[in-house]
Amino acid sequence: MKHNPIGLRGIEFTEFASPDTDYMHQVYTAFGFSHLKRHKTRDISYYNQNDIHFLLNHQRAGFSAEFARQHGPAICSMGWRVDNAEYARAEAIRRGARAADPTRTDLPYPAIYGIGDSLIYFIDRWGPQGNIYQSDFEPLEKPQHVPDLGFIAIDHLTNNVYKGTMERWASFYKEVFGFEEVRYFDIKGQKTGLISYALRSPDGSFCIPINEGKDDNNNQIDEYLTQYHGPGVQHIAFLTNDLLASLDGLDRSVIDTLDISEHYYDEVFQRVPHVAEDHQRIHDHQVLVDGDERGYLLQIFTRNLFGPIFIEMIQRHDNQGFGEGNFQALFESIERDQQRRGVL
Ligand SMILES: [Fe+2]
Repeated sequence: MKHNPIGLRGIEFTEFASPDTDYMHQVYTAFGFSHLKRHKTRDISYYNQNDIHFLLNHQRAGFSAEFARQHGPAICSMGWRVDNAEYARAEAIRRGARAADPTRTDLPYPAIYGIGDSLIYFIDRWGPQGNIYQSDFEPLEKPQHVPDLGFIAIDHLTNNVYKGTMERWASFYKEVFGFEEVRYFDIKGQKTGLISYALRSPDGSFCIPINEGKDDNNNQIDEYLTQYHGPGVQHIAFLTNDLLASLDGLDRSVIDTLDISEHYYDEVFQRVPHVAEDHQRIHDHQVLVDGDERGYLLQIFTRNLFGPIFIEMIQRHDNQGFGEGNFQALFESIERDQQRRGVL
């Protein structure tokens, strides 16, 4: 039994704050999220696809509105499933987390502050006890159902932090919640670099990699921090069991993905044998491949979608990595994108 001090059981929801909620709506529906409900007393929309639950906050005042004014489009809170929400909050605070003032949060769940003063709410109404979408939200008169693209869960969410603070943030996740270090990487691009430290939740359901830029240059982590005005979520990864099918249904006019260097596919299927999916379709969709003798993963990254935040889509076959073998290719692709935008 892993050490799970607050009884963490996974991600319940992700809440987005944005000055332009119409655009966010367009992005969610392009990813196959249906707009189903709204909060009973607040102007907050609920979107769903399998076990991914998004809240889009339209309130003009309050925590989320203030967060969007400070950061632009952002992930202003997450709800984490726990056994007992009041206990989780008390124990998290006892273990060093900072309590959120309940009069200042938009949602009525016990909360603490997380990365960049975003909120982590603790939710204990899930599974057999019913859920918050049944009790606190009401169905829309005209729900917008869009085809499910097969995204089933949030696989990981990556945080970008200031140089010299990665260890402190890693300790926060380890000491307060019992996350475990699973990987450490050091990436060097043509001109810039980053270090990354990945943590897994004590229940094993999701990971939080943390990135910190290297050296004094406009590396992509520091560029994010400047644009976002502080540390925060850099990307969220959606898990799918069939990435190529998910991509077949994705509206590329809304969701633009990163390009890959021409030579990527020359050797990738030698580096990663046993890839069962059609190699030509992988190439056509510009999907990245990584793995070893035992297993592999397929992944693809969008360009920055809202503010400096992007989305990853990932499929795993006996591989719990993050695409380390692709970090180099990805890092260089983002560098090319930075060069195109005149940042480097
Ligand atoms: Fe990722």
